[in-house]
Amino acid sequence: MSDFSLSKTAFAPATVANVGSGFDIMGFAINGSGDNVRVTFSPDTDNSLVKMTGAYAQLIPAERAKNTSSVAADFLFIACSKKPSDYLIELEKNMPLGSGMGSSAASAAAAVFAANSLLGSPFSTLQLIPFAMEGERVACGAAHADNVGPSLLGGFVLIRSYSPLDIVALPFPADLYAVVVHPHIELKTSDSRKVLPREVSMHNAITQAGNAAGLIAGLWQKDYELIGRSISDVLAEPYRTQLIPGFDAFKKAALEAGAIACGISGSGPSVFALCKGEILAKEIAANIHTVFMNQGLISDVFISGMNAEGTRLV
Ligand code: HSE
Repeated sequence: MSDFSLSKTAFAPATVANVGSGFDIMGFAINGSGDNVRVTFSPDTDNSLVKMTGAYAQLIPAERAKNTSSVAADFLFIACSKKPSDYLIELEKNMPLGSGMGSSAASAAAAVFAANSLLGSPFSTLQLIPFAMEGERVACGAAHADNVGPSLLGGFVLIRSYSPLDIVALPFPADLYAVVVHPHIELKTSDSRKVLPREVSMHNAITQAGNAAGLIAGLWQKDYELIGRSISDVLAEPYRTQLIPGFDAFKKAALEAGAIACGISGSGPSVFALCKGEILAKEIAANIHTVFMNQGLISDVFISGMNAEGTRLV
């Protein structure tokens, strides 16, 4: 990345969206993966392309109107009556695309955080979420907030409402651990949204509402059993598991190893399991890594407590 004095760099973490019954309305941030974005005031250069480095830089468009990081930052510049073309955006793309770990969200979150800081922080971190959501819109066609919300704020986040946007930070037990396994296949969020039904039955709506409410109550009460039995998704998981090889075997292995719950991370193909404490998390990780190996899939495994910090300057 360039070394300019009038610049700010931010790191935004990976996230697990949906968390089972929280489809499109819940997510949490994890440690171990994320993207960096540097924003520099540079009015005398051609800033029409995002400058990219990192392992996955070649796979995303550099055009300012198509790149998640620049789209999100440009909405913020315009809201501050600044010319987007005066700012150079540099994205260090460390996260794989179509991973289900909030890759596009991390780019957008880091971009708006860095841009906001460069402009003297006119917005609170909470107020940055709508700008980052515009990055999600360009990435997958839906401006969902269940990745950008926790990536920016950290911790466990509820999107109580999209219109008007109402975001609530949830408490969580200190020893709540996540195991996230990313099998090396790409699954675009836009594709895994296409398999979802347009309408849901009254029965499923009631079931999902009960489980989402149970998950929140469980987090609040630090009740692992309640959290576990509430992470059950009847709206998306039944339609998406067909896209994830070995999902049923993964779920069985995770629960047998002591996980309280497991499910698809975001729109997949990554999967997550939750448990109490790091020691158990390591045992679960070993079990579920083997499941994907048996499917002939290489996977990365992340073991993480909740990342309470969210996006930060680096
Ligand atoms: N809530 C979104 C979905 C998350 O499941 O489509 C995408 O990461």
